[in-house]
Amino acid sequence: MAAVPLQDLSPRLANVRPSPTLAITARAKALQEEGHDVVGFGAGEPDFNTPQPVIEAAIQALHDGATKYTPSAGLPALRKAVSEKLLRENKLHYNPDQVVVSCGAKHSVYNALQVLLSPGDEVILLAPYWMTYRDQIILADGVPVVVHSTAKDHFAPSLDAIQEAITPRTRAIIINSPCNPTGAMIPRDVLEGIAELAVQKDFWIISDEIYEHLTYDEPPVSVAGFSKAVYDHVITITGCSKSYSMTGWRIGFMAAPKPIATAVSMLQDQVTSNPTSFAQYGAIAALHLPQHDVETMRLIFEGRRNLVMELLHEIPGVATCRPQGAFYAFPSVPLLEGETDADLAQTLLEECHVAVVPGSVFEGPGHIRLSYATGEDRIRVGLDRLKRFFAHRVV
Ligand SMILES: Cc1ncc(COP(=O)(O)O)c(C=O)c1O
Repeated sequence: MAAVPLQDLSPRLANVRPSPTLAITARAKALQEEGHDVVGFGAGEPDFNTPQPVIEAAIQALHDGATKYTPSAGLPALRKAVSEKLLRENKLHYNPDQVVVSCGAKHSVYNALQVLLSPGDEVILLAPYWMTYRDQIILADGVPVVVHSTAKDHFAPSLDAIQEAITPRTRAIIINSPCNPTGAMIPRDVLEGIAELAVQKDFWIISDEIYEHLTYDEPPVSVAGFSKAVYDHVITITGCSKSYSMTGWRIGFMAAPKPIATAVSMLQDQVTSNPTSFAQYGAIAALHLPQHDVETMRLIFEGRRNLVMELLHEIPGVATCRPQGAFYAFPSVPLLEGETDADLAQTLLEECHVAVVPGSVFEGPGHIRLSYATGEDRIRVGLDRLKRFFAHRVV
């Protein structure tokens, strides 16, 4: 059969971009297969194995015959475990029927946008942002409205700028603290300001808290806990991928006011049905892991964060804010006349065999994103290569 030209497919795809992170990872892999020693700072996933009790719970579930459909919104036991986790860790009261389990937090964000947006509704994005948000807003016929922040302000969004971006069509804002790609956390006073605006102007806050367990300087804040009025405007999203090194399991959660949870569950009924049955049993085990296991991983990431900061500071012309969470650093980089950060990322991959993601992917041009979800020895090798590369660069 002849290949179908993209323009012959649904116009829905017209503004959706392929994931640049996946393209970089694929090129890095190809170089590796050619025999090159590539240091991967590209991938957004923890390098640890999934904890053994989680694996065992999923295997046991398979042996026990948990191979059939579950309720679309997830196993009652998992929804209960999520509700208990949200109370225990986040001090949020959500009944199990306000929780929907989906195929990763990415799917939860998608579902939220699908049920909230009418064509032309605006969603405020705080740049630099995880690029998936933009594409998912467009897939829901919405309009992304971007509010920029800068390294000078440690990537803290300005409340004034957010206020200016609000229009009668504003339906939601997406917040992500700690943030991919900057590792920044939104200061509490800014979160409170956003919450106040959401209540005042009656729009939703989609709070993507997927990196909640990976914070290094201050505990994470769940905006839904501010007040009852705020709670009624928030969709809280988290999941297993980053906290328990379970990216491939595809388990994410949303908790929201009942009508939203019911709508998402109905949508999921007709789209994916339930997330994989035995993965859900693994997730129940993950949510019951001793705190110590999560803390061990967090401490390793904190050590890496400190190492990356120390080594980046040694590179002339490269300036970086100290990330407070997640596993990303987002330094600004010296560019040559006419060069983009995407060009630079390509050069770094081809010449230094160091994979990074260009900042413009996240609407943070002039930066690169380094994921430090890799061992300290590799971090040293990669940053030493970058140091030697930038030492020869005169801009
Ligand atoms: C901000 C953010 N939210 C959500 C996700 C996706 O999480 P999941 O694997 O649960 O779909 C990612 C993954 O990179 C992310 O960076």
